[in-house]
Amino acid sequence: MNYELNLRTVYFSATHTSERVAKAISCAVVDEFAAEDVTFGELKNADFAADDLLLVAVPVYGGGVAPVALKRLEAIRGNNTPAVVVVVYGNRNFERAATQMSEFLAERGFITIVAAAFVGEHSYSTDENPVAVGRPNDDDIAEAQRFGELIKAKMAGAMEAVDVAALKCPDSGEENVKAFVEFVKGYQAKQANNPVKLLPTTDEEKCVMCGVCVDVCPMGAIDREDVSVVDASKCIKCCACVKECPKEAKILNSPFAPMLSKYFASPKPNVWVM
Ligand SMILES: Cc1cc2nc3c(=O)[nH]c(=O)nc-3n(C[C@H](O)[C@H](O)[C@H](O)COP(=O)(O)O)c2cc1C
Repeated sequence: MNYELNLRTVYFSATHTSERVAKAISCAVVDEFAAEDVTFGELKNADFAADDLLLVAVPVYGGGVAPVALKRLEAIRGNNTPAVVVVVYGNRNFERAATQMSEFLAERGFITIVAAAFVGEHSYSTDENPVAVGRPNDDDIAEAQRFGELIKAKMAGAMEAVDVAALKCPDSGEENVKAFVEFVKGYQAKQANNPVKLLPTTDEEKCVMCGVCVDVCPMGAIDREDVSVVDASKCIKCCACVKECPKEAKILNSPFAPMLSKYFASPKPNVWVM
Protein backbone atom coordinates (compact mmCIF):
# COMPACT_ATOMS: atom_id res chain seq x y z
CA MET A 1 0.00 0.00 0.00
CA ASN A 2 1.35 3.36 -1.01
CA TYR A 3 0.86 5.25 2.24
CA GLU A 4 2.28 8.33 0.57
CA LEU A 5 -0.98 8.87 -1.28
CA ASN A 6 -3.53 11.06 0.38
CA LEU A 7 -7.13 10.37 -0.72
CA ARG A 8 -9.20 13.48 -1.33
CA THR A 9 -12.84 12.90 -2.21
CA VAL A 10 -14.91 15.51 -4.01
CA TYR A 11 -18.53 15.15 -5.09
CA PHE A 12 -21.54 16.97 -6.49
CA SER A 13 -24.78 15.29 -5.51
CA ALA A 14 -28.19 16.93 -5.57
CA THR A 15 -30.10 13.80 -4.55
CA HIS A 16 -27.31 12.08 -2.58
CA THR A 17 -26.71 9.04 -4.79
CA SER A 18 -23.25 10.18 -5.95
CA GLU A 19 -22.50 11.16 -2.37
CA ARG A 20 -23.43 7.70 -1.04
CA VAL A 21 -21.34 5.93 -3.67
CA ALA A 22 -18.38 8.25 -3.00
CA LYS A 23 -18.68 7.66 0.72
CA ALA A 24 -18.71 3.86 0.39
CA ILE A 25 -15.67 3.85 -1.91
CA SER A 26 -13.79 6.37 0.16
CA CYS A 27 -14.40 4.55 3.44
CA ALA A 28 -12.92 1.37 1.98
CA VAL A 29 -9.73 3.21 1.04
CA VAL A 30 -9.32 5.29 4.18
CA ASP A 31 -11.01 4.94 7.52
CA GLU A 32 -12.59 8.35 7.67
CA PHE A 33 -14.88 9.97 5.16
CA ALA A 34 -13.62 13.50 4.75
CA ALA A 35 -14.94 14.86 1.50
CA GLU A 36 -15.49 18.17 -0.15
CA ASP A 37 -19.09 18.61 -1.24
CA VAL A 38 -19.41 20.99 -4.20
CA THR A 39 -23.19 20.67 -4.51
CA PHE A 40 -23.76 24.14 -3.10
CA GLY A 41 -20.64 25.99 -4.14
CA GLU A 42 -17.27 25.95 -5.82
CA LEU A 43 -14.39 23.74 -4.72
CA LYS A 44 -12.46 25.57 -2.02
CA ASN A 45 -9.27 23.53 -1.72
CA ALA A 46 -8.69 23.38 -5.45
CA ASP A 47 -4.95 22.57 -5.53
CA PHE A 48 -3.88 18.94 -5.54
CA ALA A 49 -0.34 17.62 -5.14
CA ALA A 50 1.33 14.70 -6.92
CA ASP A 51 0.91 12.59 -3.79
CA ASP A 52 -2.82 13.23 -3.52
CA LEU A 53 -5.32 10.80 -5.01
CA LEU A 54 -8.49 12.52 -6.21
CA LEU A 55 -11.76 10.57 -6.02
CA VAL A 56 -14.43 12.53 -7.85
CA ALA A 57 -18.09 11.46 -8.04
CA VAL A 58 -20.60 13.30 -10.21
CA PRO A 59 -24.06 12.61 -11.66
CA VAL A 60 -24.83 12.08 -15.33
CA TYR A 61 -27.21 14.59 -16.90
CA GLY A 62 -28.14 14.08 -20.55
CA GLY A 63 -25.34 11.58 -21.13
CA GLY A 64 -22.63 13.96 -19.90
CA VAL A 65 -21.47 15.22 -16.54
CA ALA A 66 -24.02 17.54 -14.90
CA PRO A 67 -22.81 20.91 -16.25
CA VAL A 68 -23.12 22.59 -12.86
CA ALA A 69 -20.75 20.00 -11.37
CA LEU A 70 -18.09 20.92 -13.92
CA LYS A 71 -18.67 24.57 -13.19
CA ARG A 72 -18.14 23.98 -9.48
CA LEU A 73 -14.90 22.12 -10.29
CA GLU A 74 -13.61 24.68 -12.77
CA ALA A 75 -10.71 25.80 -10.55
CA ILE A 76 -9.42 22.31 -9.71
CA ARG A 77 -5.69 21.93 -10.36
CA GLY A 78 -3.54 18.83 -10.16
CA ASN A 79 0.18 18.22 -10.51
CA ASN A 80 0.28 14.89 -12.34
CA THR A 81 -2.19 13.86 -9.67
CA PRO A 82 -3.82 10.43 -10.04
CA ALA A 83 -7.62 10.47 -10.17
CA VAL A 84 -10.48 8.02 -9.76
CA VAL A 85 -13.46 9.14 -11.86
CA VAL A 86 -16.91 7.94 -10.77
CA VAL A 87 -20.04 8.87 -12.68
CA VAL A 88 -23.44 8.01 -11.24
CA TYR A 89 -26.32 7.53 -13.64
CA GLY A 90 -30.00 6.67 -13.48
CA ASN A 91 -29.92 3.24 -15.16
CA ARG A 92 -30.33 4.59 -18.71
CA ASN A 93 -26.83 5.38 -20.01
CA PHE A 94 -23.76 7.38 -19.04
CA GLU A 95 -22.60 7.87 -22.64
CA ARG A 96 -19.74 10.44 -22.73
CA ALA A 97 -19.78 11.32 -19.00
CA ALA A 98 -16.73 9.37 -17.82
CA THR A 99 -14.52 10.38 -20.75
CA GLN A 100 -15.71 13.98 -20.41
CA MET A 101 -14.81 14.05 -16.72
CA SER A 102 -11.45 12.44 -17.42
CA GLU A 103 -10.63 14.93 -20.19
CA PHE A 104 -11.72 17.83 -18.00
CA LEU A 105 -9.33 16.61 -15.32
CA ALA A 106 -6.50 15.92 -17.79
CA GLU A 107 -6.67 19.56 -18.89
CA ARG A 108 -6.15 20.46 -15.26
CA GLY A 109 -3.19 18.23 -14.43
CA PHE A 110 -4.77 14.90 -13.45
CA ILE A 111 -4.25 11.37 -14.72
CA THR A 112 -7.28 9.08 -14.57
CA ILE A 113 -6.10 5.74 -13.20
CA VAL A 114 -9.55 4.25 -12.50
CA ALA A 115 -12.99 5.05 -13.95
CA ALA A 116 -16.36 3.72 -12.87
CA ALA A 117 -20.06 4.12 -13.49
CA PHE A 118 -22.46 3.33 -10.65
CA VAL A 119 -26.24 3.31 -10.78
CA GLY A 120 -28.30 5.70 -8.66
CA GLU A 121 -32.05 6.14 -8.42
CA HIS A 122 -33.11 8.31 -11.32
CA SER A 123 -33.86 11.88 -10.30
CA TYR A 124 -37.12 11.65 -12.27
CA SER A 125 -38.22 8.40 -10.63
CA THR A 126 -41.66 8.56 -9.00
CA ASP A 127 -44.03 6.02 -7.46
CA GLU A 128 -45.93 5.91 -10.77
CA ASN A 129 -42.81 5.76 -12.89
CA PRO A 130 -40.07 4.06 -10.89
CA VAL A 131 -36.53 4.07 -12.28
CA ALA A 132 -33.73 2.38 -10.34
CA VAL A 133 -35.57 2.95 -7.05
CA GLY A 134 -33.41 2.89 -3.94
CA ARG A 135 -30.12 2.60 -5.74
CA PRO A 136 -27.41 2.56 -4.64
CA ASN A 137 -28.96 -0.27 -2.61
CA ASP A 138 -27.15 -2.44 -0.07
CA ASP A 139 -25.61 -4.58 -2.81
CA ASP A 140 -24.35 -1.50 -4.65
CA ILE A 141 -22.83 -0.12 -1.46
CA ALA A 142 -21.12 -3.45 -0.77
CA GLU A 143 -19.83 -3.39 -4.34
CA ALA A 144 -18.59 0.19 -3.95
CA GLN A 145 -16.69 -0.98 -0.87
CA ARG A 146 -15.12 -3.86 -2.81
CA PHE A 147 -14.25 -1.37 -5.55
CA GLY A 148 -12.58 0.78 -2.86
CA GLU A 149 -10.52 -2.24 -1.81
CA LEU A 150 -9.38 -2.70 -5.41
CA ILE A 151 -8.33 0.94 -5.57
CA LYS A 152 -6.38 0.42 -2.38
CA ALA A 153 -4.61 -2.56 -3.95
CA LYS A 154 -3.87 -0.51 -7.06
CA MET A 155 -2.32 2.21 -4.92
CA ALA A 156 0.42 -0.26 -4.05
CA GLY A 157 1.57 -0.38 -7.67
CA ALA A 158 2.10 1.94 -10.61
CA MET A 159 -0.35 4.80 -11.11
CA GLU A 160 -0.81 4.36 -14.84
CA ALA A 161 -3.46 6.06 -16.96
CA VAL A 162 -6.44 3.89 -17.79
CA ASP A 163 -8.35 3.79 -21.09
CA VAL A 164 -11.56 5.49 -19.93
CA ALA A 165 -13.23 4.94 -23.32
CA ALA A 166 -13.12 1.22 -22.54
CA LEU A 167 -15.75 1.82 -19.86
CA LYS A 168 -18.94 0.71 -21.59
CA CYS A 169 -22.50 1.07 -20.42
CA PRO A 170 -24.29 -2.26 -19.93
CA ASP A 171 -26.69 -3.07 -22.76
CA SER A 172 -30.26 -1.73 -22.63
CA GLY A 173 -31.61 -3.77 -25.52
CA GLU A 174 -31.79 -2.42 -29.05
CA GLU A 175 -35.59 -2.09 -29.13
CA ASN A 176 -35.68 -0.14 -25.87
CA VAL A 177 -33.02 2.30 -27.02
CA LYS A 178 -34.76 2.75 -30.38
CA ALA A 179 -38.10 3.46 -28.75
CA PHE A 180 -36.54 5.92 -26.32
CA VAL A 181 -34.64 7.74 -29.07
CA GLU A 182 -37.87 8.04 -31.08
CA PHE A 183 -39.60 9.52 -28.06
CA VAL A 184 -36.78 12.02 -27.49
CA LYS A 185 -36.87 13.09 -31.15
CA GLY A 186 -40.63 13.63 -30.97
CA TYR A 187 -40.27 15.58 -27.74
CA GLN A 188 -37.52 17.79 -29.20
CA ALA A 189 -39.61 18.49 -32.31
CA LYS A 190 -42.57 19.48 -30.14
CA GLN A 191 -40.35 21.67 -27.98
CA ALA A 192 -38.93 23.40 -31.06
CA ASN A 193 -42.42 24.48 -32.14
CA ASN A 194 -43.91 25.15 -28.75
CA PRO A 195 -41.32 25.16 -25.94
CA VAL A 196 -42.68 24.17 -22.53
CA LYS A 197 -40.44 24.85 -19.51
CA LEU A 198 -40.29 21.89 -17.19
CA LEU A 199 -40.23 23.11 -13.58
CA PRO A 200 -41.12 21.67 -10.19
CA THR A 201 -44.60 22.63 -9.04
CA THR A 202 -46.01 22.85 -5.52
CA ASP A 203 -49.10 21.13 -4.14
CA GLU A 204 -50.44 24.03 -2.08
CA GLU A 205 -52.64 21.68 -0.03
CA LYS A 206 -49.61 19.74 1.21
CA CYS A 207 -46.99 22.49 1.41
CA VAL A 208 -46.38 23.86 4.92
CA MET A 209 -43.81 26.43 3.75
CA CYS A 210 -41.10 24.78 5.91
CA GLY A 211 -38.40 25.92 3.48
CA VAL A 212 -36.58 22.56 3.18
CA CYS A 213 -36.85 22.85 -0.61
CA VAL A 214 -35.15 26.25 -0.48
CA ASP A 215 -32.29 24.86 1.61
CA VAL A 216 -31.66 21.76 -0.52
CA CYS A 217 -31.79 23.50 -3.92
CA PRO A 218 -28.17 23.63 -5.17
CA MET A 219 -29.02 26.55 -7.44
CA GLY A 220 -30.85 28.83 -5.02
CA ALA A 221 -33.74 28.75 -7.48
CA ILE A 222 -36.64 28.64 -4.99
CA ASP A 223 -38.06 31.79 -3.43
CA ARG A 224 -38.01 31.60 0.38
CA GLU A 225 -40.95 33.98 0.73
CA ASP A 226 -43.10 31.95 -1.63
CA VAL A 227 -41.70 28.48 -2.30
CA SER A 228 -44.07 27.95 -5.21
CA VAL A 229 -41.98 30.47 -7.14
CA VAL A 230 -39.08 28.81 -8.97
CA ASP A 231 -36.60 30.77 -11.07
CA ALA A 232 -36.65 29.00 -14.43
CA SER A 233 -33.32 30.51 -15.39
CA LYS A 234 -31.66 28.82 -12.40
CA CYS A 235 -33.49 25.48 -11.99
CA ILE A 236 -31.51 22.46 -13.31
CA LYS A 237 -34.34 19.94 -12.63
CA CYS A 238 -32.11 18.00 -10.26
CA CYS A 239 -35.18 17.06 -8.16
CA ALA A 240 -33.52 17.74 -4.80
CA CYS A 241 -36.63 19.71 -3.79
CA VAL A 242 -38.93 16.88 -4.90
CA LYS A 243 -37.01 14.12 -3.14
CA GLU A 244 -36.41 15.99 0.11
CA CYS A 245 -39.76 17.64 0.68
CA PRO A 246 -41.04 16.11 3.95
CA LYS A 247 -44.66 16.62 2.82
CA GLU A 248 -44.25 15.35 -0.75
CA ALA A 249 -45.52 18.71 -1.88
CA LYS A 250 -42.98 19.30 -4.66
CA ILE A 251 -43.65 17.60 -7.96
CA LEU A 252 -41.69 17.38 -11.17
CA ASN A 253 -43.60 15.45 -13.76
CA SER A 254 -40.94 14.87 -16.35
CA PRO A 255 -42.33 13.63 -19.67
CA PHE A 256 -39.26 11.37 -19.73
CA ALA A 257 -40.20 9.49 -16.56
CA PRO A 258 -42.74 7.05 -18.07
CA MET A 259 -40.34 6.28 -20.92
CA LEU A 260 -37.35 5.76 -18.64
CA SER A 261 -39.45 3.53 -16.41
CA LYS A 262 -40.67 1.53 -19.39
CA TYR A 263 -37.50 1.14 -21.44
CA PHE A 264 -34.83 1.07 -18.73
CA ALA A 265 -36.52 -1.09 -16.13
CA SER A 266 -33.92 -3.82 -16.12
CA PRO A 267 -31.37 -3.09 -13.34
CA LYS A 268 -27.89 -2.39 -14.67
CA PRO A 269 -24.69 -3.51 -12.97
CA ASN A 270 -22.02 -1.08 -11.83
CA VAL A 271 -18.95 -1.13 -14.08
CA TRP A 272 -15.34 0.00 -13.87
CA VAL A 273 -11.98 -0.06 -15.61
CA MET A 274 -8.67 -0.04 -13.77
C1 LIG B 1 -31.43 16.75 -15.79
C2 LIG B 1 -31.11 15.29 -15.57
C3 LIG B 1 -30.61 14.53 -16.61
C4 LIG B 1 -30.30 13.18 -16.40
N1 LIG B 1 -29.78 12.46 -17.45
C5 LIG B 1 -29.48 11.15 -17.27
C6 LIG B 1 -28.93 10.38 -18.33
O1 LIG B 1 -28.62 10.87 -19.41
N2 LIG B 1 -28.74 9.06 -18.12
C7 LIG B 1 -29.05 8.44 -16.95
O2 LIG B 1 -28.92 7.23 -16.86
N3 LIG B 1 -29.52 9.17 -15.89
C8 LIG B 1 -29.73 10.50 -16.02
N4 LIG B 1 -30.20 11.25 -14.97
C9 LIG B 1 -30.33 10.60 -13.64
C10 LIG B 1 -29.14 10.89 -12.72
O3 LIG B 1 -27.93 10.66 -13.38
C11 LIG B 1 -29.23 9.97 -11.50
O4 LIG B 1 -30.47 10.06 -10.89
C12 LIG B 1 -28.12 10.23 -10.49
O5 LIG B 1 -28.17 9.17 -9.56
C13 LIG B 1 -28.31 11.56 -9.76
O6 LIG B 1 -27.18 11.81 -8.94
P1 LIG B 1 -27.23 12.60 -7.55
O7 LIG B 1 -28.18 11.85 -6.64
O8 LIG B 1 -25.84 12.52 -7.05
O9 LIG B 1 -27.70 13.98 -7.81
C14 LIG B 1 -30.51 12.59 -15.13
C15 LIG B 1 -31.00 13.38 -14.08
C16 LIG B 1 -31.30 14.71 -14.30
C17 LIG B 1 -31.79 15.53 -13.15
